[in-house]
Amino acid sequence: MSARQSSTQIIPQVRDIPRHVAIIMDGNGRWAKQRFLPRVAGHKSGAQAVRKTVRACAARGVESLTLFAFSSENWRRPKDEVRHLMQLLLQALQQEVDKLHENNIRLRFIGERSAFDPQLVDLMAAAEKKTQLNQILTLNIAVNYGGRWDILQAVNRLTQARPERAGHYTESDIAPYLSLNDMPEPDLFIRTGGEQRVSNFLLWQLAYTELYFTDTLWPDFDAASLDAAILSYQQRERRFGRTSEQLHLEAPRRGVAGA
Ligand code: IPE
Ligand code: IPE
Ligand code: MG
Repeated sequence: MSARQSSTQIIPQVRDIPRHVAIIMDGNGRWAKQRFLPRVAGHKSGAQAVRKTVRACAARGVESLTLFAFSSENWRRPKDEVRHLMQLLLQALQQEVDKLHENNIRLRFIGERSAFDPQLVDLMAAAEKKTQLNQILTLNIAVNYGGRWDILQAVNRLTQARPERAGHYTESDIAPYLSLNDMPEPDLFIRTGGEQRVSNFLLWQLAYTELYFTDTLWPDFDAASLDAAILSYQQRERRFGRTSEQLHLEAPRRGVAGA
């Protein structure tokens, strides 16, 4: 399947290892609270879990990993917490990019950047440029991202580019303007921290993604937690609108993990 194919237009091939994993990293605040620590300690510890998860995904052959780091609604948090989160992002950009690059990982950001400090915006662009040819894994960080923003920015750019087709746009017309359009749609969505909601993450892209929720708080998430999510994914029947009988007629059962 080419990266650009859409699950609502063409039935994607299903692999045992998800090609694209998208994660809502939730529960940092509660992790800290359980330890009588300030919330920011939870975010710092969450950054460790990011490192572990990136490594584990790369080792398992996941091609794309999209992490929700800051939502368009997270600006509603106390100013101090927002400031700390921005600082952590800045620090990560200053300290982690070389290591990602050495490990052949491509880094990209999705979300509205105009809200950020220019220093942060420059570092994001530099990190993307530096790692653009890396091939082991694409790590997409969603910051100031919202699924509704994504769809709206795509519609606005499309209407500017193709005003003559207004009223007749198709999915293929809008697709090139949506975030992550150059990679397969997420196969597996993981949300840690126990909440069972999408919180304005990838609304368009999750159309046929398998959803997995775990009570594990994000700072406690590790390779074994990822394996548990992948195991659950491997037990799903991805029908994409068809019946189970059709699926069994069309394709032999999937092989063992990693095949
Ligand atoms: C997720 O953890 C991190 C961000 C949203 C930035 P939270 O900070 O939401 O943690 P809880 O949900 O309060 O435990
Ligand atoms: C979702 O977590 C956003 C991120 C993990 C960045 P939240 O903790 O902000 O979500 P809600 O507010 O509980 O839905
Ligand atoms: Mg939360």
